[in-house]
Amino acid sequence: MSEETMNEATMSEASTTAVNTTEENLALWLTRRGGALTIGAAPRSAAGPGEVVVRVRAVAVNPIDAMPPIAYPFVLPWLRFPAILGTDVAGEIVEVGPGVTTFAPGDRVLGHAVGLERSRNRPAEGAFQRYVVLMAHLVAPIPDSLSFSQAAVLPLTLSTASVGLFQRDQLGLTLPAVGTPDRDQTVLVWGGSTSVGSNAIQLAHNAGYRVVATASPRNFDYLRALGADAVADRSSSTVVDELVGLIGTAFLAGTVAIGAGSIAPCMKVAARVAGAKRVASSMPSPLSKLQAGLVRAPGVKVSYIWGGTLKDNEIGPAVYGFVGEALAAGSYRAEPAATIVGDGLRAIPSAIEQLRKGVSAAKLVVTI
Ligand SMILES: NC(=O)c1ccc[n+]([C@@H]2O[C@H](COP(=O)([O-])OP(=O)(O)OC[C@H]3O[C@@H](n4cnc5c(N)ncnc54)[C@H](OP(=O)(O)O)[C@@H]3O)[C@@H](O)[C@H]2O)c1
Repeated sequence: MSEETMNEATMSEASTTAVNTTEENLALWLTRRGGALTIGAAPRSAAGPGEVVVRVRAVAVNPIDAMPPIAYPFVLPWLRFPAILGTDVAGEIVEVGPGVTTFAPGDRVLGHAVGLERSRNRPAEGAFQRYVVLMAHLVAPIPDSLSFSQAAVLPLTLSTASVGLFQRDQLGLTLPAVGTPDRDQTVLVWGGSTSVGSNAIQLAHNAGYRVVATASPRNFDYLRALGADAVADRSSSTVVDELVGLIGTAFLAGTVAIGAGSIAPCMKVAARVAGAKRVASSMPSPLSKLQAGLVRAPGVKVSYIWGGTLKDNEIGPAVYGFVGEALAAGSYRAEPAATIVGDGLRAIPSAIEQLRKGVSAAKLVVTI
């Protein structure tokens, strides 16, 4: 059956969400590094212990999906081909595996697909297909008021921000909870309008921290709406001084550095204010590490985030549990805004091309 034919049989997210249990799986395959993404049949894998199977209704694209072939040996050296890319999923649960008690078939959920992770490395867990296997502790329910398309913006960047803020080998901050009182400590988020930053601001805010963030001025109101208490222009020539002033005498609990060139100014700020001399960078590349080594910021330690690591520790279940509750309570928003750029697996390659050209406070989403 062609993808076009199968799309006609697929119900839109506006209609009833009954799942066709005999529907064949179809995936967007990457058969070799540098090869074209091609649509083809894929097995419908069963849910193993602690897993769920989700009928994908929307996916978002991320920089890791848009990597040039030359980056694969550095970023995903373990990846076996053929592979199925994609990390961000929203859809409906069709099957729960042994030991899963928190979800049932028919539940509307978002989830982080970890098929590209070294320890998983299997196509069944790549997002760019109709039926995906997800680890149940990286899945959260989505309220009826939230569309699949908007929910799909969250998973990878929610995970990445959470690793940076809360994992013990990163900033190790206190986890968020609905209704947490304010604490007298500040978190700096550089790159607050990125998808990772949008989550970092909300997570830190929901953990009670005062948040100082940077972005381009056109996104200042967006940052404030997410919970930032003070904002600065990341391109200003005096941004380090401004941030030091905005943090003032408050205790800096930690810094998340997101975006090219973010590590140096973050290290300089951390060196000049009272508090934790810790910067968690979302750029785990050899170049970033080289650049950090050249910055004069005595005592400041930089750690490098890998968004998938929370699947193996307490942060994954804690954050996905929190987000399910907070989305329902209205104290967390699925941001940035989804820009729906197409429908069907065939629309994903052009979404990836569009991402390569850059976005600002937006997430590119394809409905499936
Ligand atoms: N380590 C991991 O596991 C992991 C996982 C996911 C993403 N990442 C990385 O995290 C970064 C953000 O990813 P994303 O998907 O959140 O990005 P994104 O949403 O595509 O980022 C778009 C935003 O980037 C901002 N921006 C552009 N250049 C910047 C710079 N030099 N410094 C700070 N902000 C800049 C723009 O903000 P303004 O318009 O306000 O200027 C724009 O709003 C990327 O480098 C990505 O590779 C790492």
